[in-house]
Amino acid sequence: MTARASQLSGSSDRPPASRPAGVLPAVGYWMAAGFAVSLALAAIVLAVAGAGEHGTALALRVTARWCFLLFWPAYAGSALTRFCGPRFAVLTRQGRAFGLAFAAALGVHVGLVLRLMAVAADQRTPMLLFWAGVACTYALALLSLPRLRDWLGPRAWRIACEAAMQYIALVFAVDFIVEPLQANGPDKYPLTYLPFVIMLVGGALLRIAAQLRRQRTAGGVQQNP
Ligand code: HEM
Repeated sequence: MTARASQLSGSSDRPPASRPAGVLPAVGYWMAAGFAVSLALAAIVLAVAGAGEHGTALALRVTARWCFLLFWPAYAGSALTRFCGPRFAVLTRQGRAFGLAFAAALGVHVGLVLRLMAVAADQRTPMLLFWAGVACTYALALLSLPRLRDWLGPRAWRIACEAAMQYIALVFAVDFIVEPLQANGPDKYPLTYLPFVIMLVGGALLRIAAQLRRQRTAGGVQQNP
């Protein structure tokens, strides 16, 4: 997550000294918007499908997809810009904002999980894999604080960010790929998952390719100082 690392450093999002008191920094608006859309989606689904087990599970699926749309630019934005040119530079510039908006939106998903545990007795299993994903998300949000980054040092900080980011991608992969395959088998894999799978796998491949290219460039610079 080296490319992403520079996004999370957030130097461009540090509150300027001249910002008037009480005005949210731009990233605060992104978080508020991420959370508000997630909440509105959940409210609409619960209103239409009912607030019982079925409606809550549906709302979980809908909010998870919204969360993914916010996570993806944070995950793959820099790598996409590296390969597809400056057209996508906005994704790189706003990577930290997308990541924090994702963390805010995930709050609604977690709220729905707690609701599902209250209404459905068989949903009270620990599901540690997913809770660890939540922990990684909020750890990443903390790691975006410049003071914590400075305290950790660039190497440890980059490794921590990369690990957290890849773990969250793994949780999405379990939900979009592994669980539907287990539930339906390869023949009846629901096609509605495909766009998300293509984005997820494509994002992971782009990140690997960007990392390889960076290593090759760094190697070339060392050979020809
Ligand atoms: C980073 C954290 C998380 C991510 C990335 C995530 C991702 C997802 C995704 C992609 C779906 C949609 C699955 C589908 O459409 O089939 C989903 C649904 C769901 N998630 Fe999460 N989730 C997270 C945290 C959690 C946690 C902590 C729990 C509970 C312990 C949980 C429980 C559920 C449940 C019960 C569903 C509905 C499954 C269904 O009925 O089809 N999630 N989540």
